Amino acid sequence: MKPGTIFRKFQDREGREVTLRAPRWSDLDDMLEFINSLVDENADIVVDSKYTREGEVNWLAGRLSALENDRVIMVAAEVDGRFVGQAAVGPKMGRSNHVGVLGISLKDGYRDAGIGTELMREVEGQAPRLGIEMITLDVFASNARGRHLYEKMGYVEVGRVPRGIRRDGEYIDDVIMAKELQVTPGEAPAE
Ligand SMILES: CC(C)(COP(=O)(O)OP(=O)(O)OC[C@H]1O[C@@H](n2cnc3c(N)ncnc32)[C@H](O)[C@@H]1OP(=O)(O)O)[C@@H](O)C(=O)NCCC(=O)NCCS
Repeated sequence: MKPGTIFRKFQDREGREVTLRAPRWSDLDDMLEFINSLVDENADIVVDSKYTREGEVNWLAGRLSALENDRVIMVAAEVDGRFVGQAAVGPKMGRSNHVGVLGISLKDGYRDAGIGTELMREVEGQAPRLGIEMITLDVFASNARGRHLYEKMGYVEVGRVPRGIRRDGEYIDDVIMAKELQVTPGEAPAE
């Protein structure tokens, strides 16, 4: 997939036009500000320390290379020309390479407007291209909004690691959810 490829546009519940597209190099500074703002707000994500610009350059270089080589599905949400969040699914290794692991987050101010729902639809639609038949994700047990979204999208809790997350000395269960995609096992549909 070519960085910057546009997938589709829609209006969110606030009436903003949202573009779903592949990420690109020019997202670098918005992405750095985005991940560090999630760390600042103590969001329900595993990352707990801020990225430097150099760290973000290395991270994005790796991601864009994986994107171009069809080793990951990445969908960025753009509003008013700025990156405001993303969803990604990457296949696991070897005998689990039909299983994709999903990550998703949106910037504060762009949540609860249906953008997460559309990001998930988009990555799920693209995942079979990489041979992905099933998607799993980890979510903090405390993340009511995330869990609601995932359940709405058809994910079911398949396990949990009790106290698998520690934040500020407090333990939270790590909930594992999964969804089978509607694809024929072993056959990636033609593009
Ligand atoms: C979780 C997240 C990705 C969801 O994206 P989003 O764009 O906010 O999601 P949507 O607006 O599409 O859907 C949110 C749903 O949760 C519901 N919701 C909001 N707060 C809720 C709460 N406290 N309890 C239950 N449901 C809640 C909304 O009503 C909506 O449901 P609906 O579509 O049935 O009306 C986003 O909120 C986010 O980035 N949060 C912070 C970081 C994070 O938690 N990342 C996920 C880590 S696993």
